[in-house]
Amino acid sequence: MEKKIRKAILPAGGLGTRFLPATKASPKEMLPIVDKPMIQYAIEEARACGIEEFIIITGKYKRAIEDHFDSAFELEENLKRTGKKRLLEEISRLNHLNFAYIRQKAAIGLGHAIHCAKPFVKDEPFAVLLSDDIIDPDTVLLQHMINLYKEFNSPILALQQVPIPDINKYGVIEGIREKGNVYRINNLVEKPRLTDAPSDMAIIGRYILTPDIFEILEGIGPGKGGEIQLTDALCGLLKKRPIYGYLFTGKRYDAGDKIGYLKATIDLSLKNSQVSEQLKKYIIEVAARLKN
Ligand code: G1P
Repeated sequence: MEKKIRKAILPAGGLGTRFLPATKASPKEMLPIVDKPMIQYAIEEARACGIEEFIIITGKYKRAIEDHFDSAFELEENLKRTGKKRLLEEISRLNHLNFAYIRQKAAIGLGHAIHCAKPFVKDEPFAVLLSDDIIDPDTVLLQHMINLYKEFNSPILALQQVPIPDINKYGVIEGIREKGNVYRINNLVEKPRLTDAPSDMAIIGRYILTPDIFEILEGIGPGKGGEIQLTDALCGLLKKRPIYGYLFTGKRYDAGDKIGYLKATIDLSLKNSQVSEQLKKYIIEVAARLKN
């Protein structure tokens, strides 16, 4: 029988090398987009889908993530005293959620990070959210994947078509269309060479997985880049059960990359009533300047 998705794993143990020097001593996941750290967007996305427990896989220099999701007594008291009600609400909104932190001893791959969560997940299906993939908060992706999990009782991966020159940055699938935007997957390759890509459908950072993935993760060795790859484990799981992909056509930003991060910052600022009008004016000004 299918079970409710109550838990989410958020790997955050990576080194964030694409943002050096900013990430030398602070977590990439804490880089702000408008006024919230990147990882908070993923937490709020999962929360909106009824996820109750958040398992964050951390590493060295990642302590700020724990502090961010903890209550902040002194700050809260100060905001109360000074009558800053809106800010108080904003910083305490997530206080009631349950967080668990597991320290990944070495950044040796996404598959390894997921495996670290095994004692907390036990025998339940769970969601995985990679926080540097920012999904437009006005679209519904994760909820859709949860519904598909209920329908197929199988792991569901989020997919997006990407331009072929970018395909070697992703796990790539080969699949047959089952219905609408749903594909039954028959092969997966982690970061293929451009000429070896089985399709232009890339896995993006949202997964609904079943606990049988842990056993497979235990049995696989290092893959692409010498890391324990989740994609390789999914390839192993495919021999035992069907896996489906949901082709997402909405907006997603690779905020782990400088240009994706800047695009996310601009688009999400344009959705933020505090800054959107002024930013719009400024963008028009900049566009005019660049034309001349
Ligand atoms: C990871 C996965 C890859 C997936 C990507 C999505 O790669 O290994 O399969 O396509 O996330 O963002 P990373 O971006 O960590 O190199």
